[in-house]
Amino acid sequence: MDLGEKYTMKTMGQLISYTQDENTFTLQYEKEQLIIKVIREDIINFFIPLRFKEHYSKAVEEDKSVPCKVTAGMKEGEFLLETKSLKVRAGSDLALTVSGSDNRVLMHTHGAGRKSGAVVSEETRKILEAEGHDASKMDTGDYPVQLVLGLDEGDDFYGLGDKSGFLNKKYYEYENWNSDIPQAHNEDYHALYKSVPVLFCKKKQAVYGLFFDNTFHSYLNLGKESTDYFYYGADDGNLDVYFMGGENLKDLVSAYTYLTGRTPLPQRWTLGYQQSRWSYESADEVMDVAEHFRSLDIPCDAIHLDIDYMDGYRVFTWNNEEYGQPGELTAQLKEKGFKTVTIIDPGTKVDDSYFMCREGEKNHYFATDPEGKTYVNEVWPGDANYPDFGRKEVRDWWGSHHKFLVDAGVDGIWNDMNEPASFRGELPADVVFHDEDRKTSHAEMHNVYGHYMSRATFEGLQKLTDKRPFVITRAAYAGTQKYSTVWTGDNQSLWSHLQMMVPQLCNLGMSGFAFAGTDIGGFGADTTPELLTRWIEAACFSPLFRNHSCKGTRRQEPWQFGDEVVSIYRKYVKLRYRFLPYLYDLFYQGEKTGLPVMRPLVLHYEEDRETYNMNGEFLVGENLLVAPVLEQGSDKKMVYLPRGTWYDFWTGEKISGGQYILRDAPIDVCPIYVKAGTILPMYEEMSYVGEKPLTTLKLLCTPGEAHYEHFQDDGETYAYRNGAYNLYAFDRDADGKLKTTMLHENYPKYEKIIMEELVK
Ligand code: GLC
Repeated sequence: MDLGEKYTMKTMGQLISYTQDENTFTLQYEKEQLIIKVIREDIINFFIPLRFKEHYSKAVEEDKSVPCKVTAGMKEGEFLLETKSLKVRAGSDLALTVSGSDNRVLMHTHGAGRKSGAVVSEETRKILEAEGHDASKMDTGDYPVQLVLGLDEGDDFYGLGDKSGFLNKKYYEYENWNSDIPQAHNEDYHALYKSVPVLFCKKKQAVYGLFFDNTFHSYLNLGKESTDYFYYGADDGNLDVYFMGGENLKDLVSAYTYLTGRTPLPQRWTLGYQQSRWSYESADEVMDVAEHFRSLDIPCDAIHLDIDYMDGYRVFTWNNEEYGQPGELTAQLKEKGFKTVTIIDPGTKVDDSYFMCREGEKNHYFATDPEGKTYVNEVWPGDANYPDFGRKEVRDWWGSHHKFLVDAGVDGIWNDMNEPASFRGELPADVVFHDEDRKTSHAEMHNVYGHYMSRATFEGLQKLTDKRPFVITRAAYAGTQKYSTVWTGDNQSLWSHLQMMVPQLCNLGMSGFAFAGTDIGGFGADTTPELLTRWIEAACFSPLFRNHSCKGTRRQEPWQFGDEVVSIYRKYVKLRYRFLPYLYDLFYQGEKTGLPVMRPLVLHYEEDRETYNMNGEFLVGENLLVAPVLEQGSDKKMVYLPRGTWYDFWTGEKISGGQYILRDAPIDVCPIYVKAGTILPMYEEMSYVGEKPLTTLKLLCTPGEAHYEHFQDDGETYAYRNGAYNLYAFDRDADGKLKTTMLHENYPKYEKIIMEELVK
């Protein structure tokens, strides 16, 4: 690919004229075109075709535009456009303003551009590099693709996927470049494993969202360089920005997931507890772990097999020596009610006697160097090739090989190392990859490598089974939520990483990833009984619920830490299982609304400034508030309860919101609160999903009028999409009388629905 001359946004020049084709407006500037497309009255795409004439979006898979009324025209050298809810003004040199229908300015370009001296000069960079600093990605000036926007007093930022640090992203800078980071992630890391360039800006009295749909390496500096502006910059590609308007942050999340897709309803068991380690090194060891869970009465649904179950780390093979014949271990696990999830990495071992290597080579399925020679780098199996997942035929090939694992009784696939990771330095920018049939480079496809790998896995599993695929991926791009759940990669057994769990999962949720989790207990380093205990409490409501740890670290199953840990661990895992119908309902609703399971308080209380930087609490759905203890040695928690009336989940105590309270939180207590007027559906205790038929539903209620809709289906297949489900509406009046209405009935109903009062 000819990378050609660099572009810069400074070359727009005067606005000359515009043309209209339905709701697409092409503005002709002296040097470039700006194409404004109204997608919906609340979503507008701004597109400057710098590198490509096309969008080539990997996140927005189809034309999402719908007919809507738009008026447009030129006035005094400016282009003006209006939908029912948004007003756009575009002038010379890309002076852009978007306002709401009430004329309140939402987004506006910062006319002065970036201040000089804010960047590192080439000379300084060389000195820093000579001193051994990694200055390769240091900011050396304006970007070829750049948008500098005004920062107003009171602006706060959320979203951006898995970025490290805190909930509110204001004053920090980030990069979008999927990175395998084995070191301890802290707020100084600009990029982790995922690139989800969606930003939600909460202004003093308004909100807007921006989705920067460009997969090349990009930056977001959110007021770190200057308190007057924030900017987006990309090394290449187009300026392709979706502006999203709305009444509140929920509308923005909904609009963003309308564009990029929503997390599909998962199988019910995937919401159960899962146990992993790199690695359980033999079938016997796996069975020993499984037996411990059952004998200690700690519910568990799945065990994960890390890379050692393979033969020499060759994907789609089985290590017969340690793990028996394919199918044996999974059958033994199944007998005890466990599902099996196996890891699959992209790096395919270079080995002429290995079928994946031969097939990939013969069919040209691997990435090549610019001369056409198959590219080799190193990962777990040693020398390895990189499947070119951007091509459909490669995805189909890869997907079809999952037959081996499905036939062996495997129930879910865990995709790892797909940033892609490489032990002999990063893949050069010019390694040849494809975006479907279009030949392009690593520079463009790096950030979507994991995206396309998990798509291949998802589609492969969809063809091979009638179940809803369960895929977990480490690397992702905007839109990967349609294909896969995610975990936050290699965290460590550090209190700061337990603390980061809350903002990280909340921001992932707002960024479309409703199904996300951390390695409970921490992956790297040694956990302590206290840290593991607080982690299981905090993670009890995190959508993906898996304990995982690294080779060489202290074993991390709960029984490694004595009776007290076992008993508290059991209490929270059991609690999780009682809440399964609630979590499942949130996923069902999320498929329609895009709203996540785990939510920052600001999503529901954005008028309340106490919530803007709330890193230590979160909501599950709307009416359940979790305030875990996240500090070593602490047995108290300062809890903020937003407006309204709340009830302590453990004691039933009534507490008025809009205040901080100090809650005693000894080691076995994770403070949880339920809002007045809430109905929470719950199941009886169980050791795993499918242990017993789910014939009884309990409704845990707090005082006050309440309405709740509950979804029930087979929990596994797509039959619900053809109507095989029940939808119950529960209405409770102020006296506590319950009325049940069937909104949809096409599945065996519960035998018993029991109402229980939280306040006894
Ligand atoms: C990576 C993964 C980790 C896994 C290990 C071995 O570090 O992030 O979860 O256990 O590789 O496969």
